[in-house]
Amino acid sequence: MNAYDAERMADVLAPEGFIETNSAEDADLIVLNTCHIREKAAEKVYSELGRLRVMKDERTAAEGRAPTIVVAGCVAQAEGGEILRRAPAVDLVVGPQSYHNLPALLAKAKRERVVDTEFPVEDKFDHLPAPSPQKIRARGVSAFLTIQEGCDKFCTFCVVPYTRGAEISRPAAKILAEAERLAAAGVREFTVIGQNVNAYHGEGPDGRTWSLGRLLHRLADVPGIARLRYTTSHPRDMDDDLIAAHRDLQALMPYLHLPVQSGSDRILAGMNRRHTRDDYRRIIDRTRAARPDIALSSDFIIGFPGETDADFEDTLRLVRETGFASAFSFKYSPRPGTPAAEMAEQVPEDVKSARLAALQDALEEDRQKFNRAAVGRTFDVLVERKGRHAGQMAGKSPYLQAVQFDDGEVAIGDIVAVEITETGPNSLFGRRAGQAGASGTTVRAVGANAA
Ligand code: 5AD
Ligand code: SF4
Repeated sequence: MNAYDAERMADVLAPEGFIETNSAEDADLIVLNTCHIREKAAEKVYSELGRLRVMKDERTAAEGRAPTIVVAGCVAQAEGGEILRRAPAVDLVVGPQSYHNLPALLAKAKRERVVDTEFPVEDKFDHLPAPSPQKIRARGVSAFLTIQEGCDKFCTFCVVPYTRGAEISRPAAKILAEAERLAAAGVREFTVIGQNVNAYHGEGPDGRTWSLGRLLHRLADVPGIARLRYTTSHPRDMDDDLIAAHRDLQALMPYLHLPVQSGSDRILAGMNRRHTRDDYRRIIDRTRAARPDIALSSDFIIGFPGETDADFEDTLRLVRETGFASAFSFKYSPRPGTPAAEMAEQVPEDVKSARLAALQDALEEDRQKFNRAAVGRTFDVLVERKGRHAGQMAGKSPYLQAVQFDDGEVAIGDIVAVEITETGPNSLFGRRAGQAGASGTTVRAVGANAA
């Protein structure tokens, strides 16, 4: 979501004459787009601001003018004016719902230090200019597309409902218009995103409320679009429509990121996840029945308050029983203002570290097993860029694995069949499997600027 927001901030600033630079040293304007999900992410902002303060002072001394420094994103939303007090170099603090106002806020910040953490009534997306086709193309053939923001679930560990606000879904017609514009410029793959993306319930062009499953059907029909993904989901919102979309839509990639957080019913209840470990297993079974080649990934939190060795064993058992292709796992980080931060029985840091290491060993073993099983198989690969060596190209398998292969002939945006010959720690290596794609033919990129 922050990667998408950062691009949209660049889009909103482009008509003001700003272009992107590769280093902060060259910039007239520096925007830190921040994350508040765990303490480590939030603290990193202040250490970065410390460095920027030194740079700002040096440039003021050397050039007589200083870059404007903006803090955007969820730390901005959560801490507001506190950032101005702690970080004297900051000129403007802007929350994730107000960045469409950046030009006006920057004008104001010339006169005084500004904080804007409102949740405005107007739709931010209506005020964001569309990027040029060249810009879209330069960003690559795989694009994020925000369809939903915010969350009403209130898991007891999580700041998102406070920083991103109540759940809202963009109307389907607006999403489809953005999708068509991106596809016409050469985008081949959409990852539709939202903090709780499968809770999507947007207004459809027919006046009815559309589910994510319904929306994915329409996105699959957008000319040029070959691949669809969505993230991040909640188990409670895996409805029948969405599971059926995994069966019916070839374009929907057989890879599902479905955070479970814990394998213990007691901890899931404390987290207010509102599902049990068995509910999760049943959802996985139904999704696998709909799409047998689907691979799974998940998020885990270790050391939630009250987590015992037995609870942790339940999580390890769930991992062993399910077999995840990939996963993200974190130590529980108490966040100000969330119910879990106030709970007694906080787990000591050394216990958290030991459990996290054990969990990560188990997850890494499964990930490597999944990657090794790719050797000898032929995957459709969406070509995203040139590889590291001459004549080499790089792209992604349906399972989001990075794939490198030798072939100077194919173009970025093509989908080609690649036989996997080897696995490295973070990539697969392979060779073109003749002229035919795994699904029959090489699929050429389409779209105005795609060739
Ligand atoms: N501590 C640790 N991890 C957290 N996450 C969310 N809040 C916290 C927290 N307070 C993790 C969850 C979520 C992912 C985006 O971040 O696993 O799915
Ligand atoms: Fe946070 Fe996700 Fe729970 Fe919403 S569903 S509160 S975003 S963890």
